[in-house]
Amino acid sequence: MSSIKEQIIKALQAVTKTKKISLEFPENEAFGDYSSNAAFLNIDLKIDEVVEKFNQSGLPVRAEAKAGFINFWLKKDVLVDDLMQIDNEKEKYGSSSIGKGKTVVIDYSSPNIAKPFGIGHLRSTIIGQALYNLYEFLGYEVIGDNHLGDWGTQFGKLLYMLHEENMITANNVSDFDISKLEELYVEFHKLAEKDTTLEEKAREWFKKLEDGDSKAKEIWKKCVDISLEEFDRIYDLLGVKIDFTLGESSYRDEWQNLIQSKSVQDNLSIGEGGAKIIDLSKEGINIPLMFLKGDGGTTYATRDLATIAFRVRKWDPDIIIYEVGAEQTFYFKQIFAAARLLGLVKDDIKLIHTAHGLYLAGDGKKFATREGKTVKLDEVLTEAIKRAEELGNSDEKIAQQVGIGAIKYFDLMHSVQSNVVFDWEKMMNLEGNSGPYLQYTVARINSVLAKSTNKQSLAKSEFGKQISKSTNKWQINNEEMTVLRKLCRFPEIIATAAINYSPNTLCSYLYNLAQKFNSFYNKDKIIGGENESLRLKLTSAVGTVLKSGLGILSISTPEKM
Ligand code: ARG
Repeated sequence: MSSIKEQIIKALQAVTKTKKISLEFPENEAFGDYSSNAAFLNIDLKIDEVVEKFNQSGLPVRAEAKAGFINFWLKKDVLVDDLMQIDNEKEKYGSSSIGKGKTVVIDYSSPNIAKPFGIGHLRSTIIGQALYNLYEFLGYEVIGDNHLGDWGTQFGKLLYMLHEENMITANNVSDFDISKLEELYVEFHKLAEKDTTLEEKAREWFKKLEDGDSKAKEIWKKCVDISLEEFDRIYDLLGVKIDFTLGESSYRDEWQNLIQSKSVQDNLSIGEGGAKIIDLSKEGINIPLMFLKGDGGTTYATRDLATIAFRVRKWDPDIIIYEVGAEQTFYFKQIFAAARLLGLVKDDIKLIHTAHGLYLAGDGKKFATREGKTVKLDEVLTEAIKRAEELGNSDEKIAQQVGIGAIKYFDLMHSVQSNVVFDWEKMMNLEGNSGPYLQYTVARINSVLAKSTNKQSLAKSEFGKQISKSTNKWQINNEEMTVLRKLCRFPEIIATAAINYSPNTLCSYLYNLAQKFNSFYNKDKIIGGENESLRLKLTSAVGTVLKSGLGILSISTPEKM
């Protein structure tokens, strides 16, 4: 059966004899469940006539004309049907198979080896995982790929430092942790200010690594292992597991083939300092892409183009999403244009760069430590868990769920492209739009349901019978109605959030639903009140949708709080 939205569109098409009809969700609930701007209907009929005819079409929807819009209200039966559907489908409610047969590759997290996992990569990890879950819920085949930064000139610097004075050996390997590696990198830059030959030496070391020098490779491998151990600890804490960890270095064969390929050879020209560049003016971009360095060494771009070739061959995706910060916007424009120019991707493959915003400190400046260094993620996560404890969660596991959930929700509630001003108060606010507030609402629902003594008597079939017999007689009060109307939007919210790559759409929906539920909870007696069976079902459905929605955002919900 087609969705109610499709049915409304069909009926409206029949009445108005126009094909192009768009239905939107009005922001303001006073404007119905759906609404359509009558100006776009482009017809001779008066709005009132359209409304009248529509209302005769027999759909369980009431139309009404208001200020140039036609607003549609779902009737009680439809809403109650939805409630029953939630009861039947439980956490599957809202999932679909529209993505069946389609594949999405999501490139996310992607921290850099030998550098700490900064707060910048946190956004990518959190948003990437939410997009992953959204697409999976819609039936897509989803492939998560952690494109580790494990190759590049910076390793030349590290290798130089390690080789000249600080060689890692089997004996001292435990002295080297990720911050030690980062220190070496900083030290290199200090030394390089005095000694201008160092940059060249670092390039030579990177070249050695690229050419497969075994000593260089051995040290490099140790650095990778040390970093991965640290990253895994963080992924564990975040509860994130990425399908593949294919670092830049893993595309070695691929880029060697790519460099030799005819399409690349045909498109290369010589740029500044002997670099090999790809002219993108045909694609409307007037700055060429630096493809290979003067010494023939690969660049970030060489490796990204090789990666695209690999992904297309291996997974044949319909969409590749790069969950990467806005600072790389121009770079990805170039990469996407180059990939099309070189024929690595067909026209029908979508290449998306989400371009997320930065984390900022409260004063609007860059989020950094007092010394101006980037804030370490580890410290932020520990602080979040501590603050969750202070909210009264003495259980360690719950404090972790709440602390990490708060961080994730705070990130996701912002639109992807906007900057996020870091604010502990908002993040942990039990009364506002926050992760803990939503988790708390779920815990409250759990406790109501646990208290309901007649849970047994509410067996599915029983409920169905009760409802179908009495729907018409049922008095559904305002609060119940508002919750019902909100609940049935969930499937469309999911689809919208996925299509627009905007988990924040789902966040505002969940917050809104929780608010509506809490007003209902504060006003109406659930257990032992009138309409008890409906109210319990409503309560349980809200719990189901909140849990499922938060789960998609990769936020877990403690049973109790
Ligand atoms: N490692 C990169 C960085 O930290 C991000 C990689 C993003 N993915 C990609 N395919 N380029 O800036």
